Amino acid sequence: MDDLKKIHDLARREHIPIMKDDGIAFLVAYLEEHENIRDILECGTAVGYSAIRMAQVRWDMQVDTLEIDPKMYEEACRNIREHGLEDRIHCHLCDASEFQSDRVYDLIFVDAAKSQYRRYLEHFYSNTMPGSVFIFDNLNFHGIVDDPALSGNRGTLQMTRKIKTFRDHLLADDRFETVFYPDTGDGVAVAKRKKSSSFEEQSGKQ
Ligand SMILES: C[S@@+](CC[C@H](N)C(=O)[O-])C[C@H]1O[C@@H](n2cnc3c(N)ncnc32)[C@H](O)[C@@H]1O
Repeated sequence: MDDLKKIHDLARREHIPIMKDDGIAFLVAYLEEHENIRDILECGTAVGYSAIRMAQVRWDMQVDTLEIDPKMYEEACRNIREHGLEDRIHCHLCDASEFQSDRVYDLIFVDAAKSQYRRYLEHFYSNTMPGSVFIFDNLNFHGIVDDPALSGNRGTLQMTRKIKTFRDHLLADDRFETVFYPDTGDGVAVAKRKKSSSFEEQSGKQ
């Protein structure tokens, strides 16, 4: 069994919420189709599985990946090292919403705290340029976003209400051209930053 499959299978066995298989296949295919993508930011590393899959698409991919949980971070660093990718995947132990960088990313993959998605979008907007893409996973949250009766847990219901508000906001956000894929992964959206939006034109911002 190859090492990456071991990481995948172990994560599934230990209920570490790595992206669904069809979601990761979609992400990898997106990167293969968009050869201009080189610099990636990932919010939510877990054990490094998606970061490694992304970095393996092309030899010149650079990935900054952010993880808040020290145990996950340690395991991700080990997995990244074992794949010889430590010069191209930089794992940061931090709260994604506090990460500061002056880098401009071609793609920002958001897979961390679901209730913070709006915050991440605004926080990292200045790290994008026209043409940059945000990809969000879990916009269905196991179907609960559209069918709250699937969960009786108050915390989950509060969080899925926030996801719904964010999803509606993103689809209406004039700064992006957004496509929502409800049947991919756990509900994936691809939001591509437009050249300019009416909001930016009015406010003189770029
Ligand atoms: C869904 S998992 C990431 C899975 C990974 N992208 C993959 O598919 O291999 C989400 C991760 O985000 C981390 N996380 C949660 N809140 C965070 C935050 N505020 N900042 C950074 N990481 C966070 C969690 O500890 C967890 O490991």
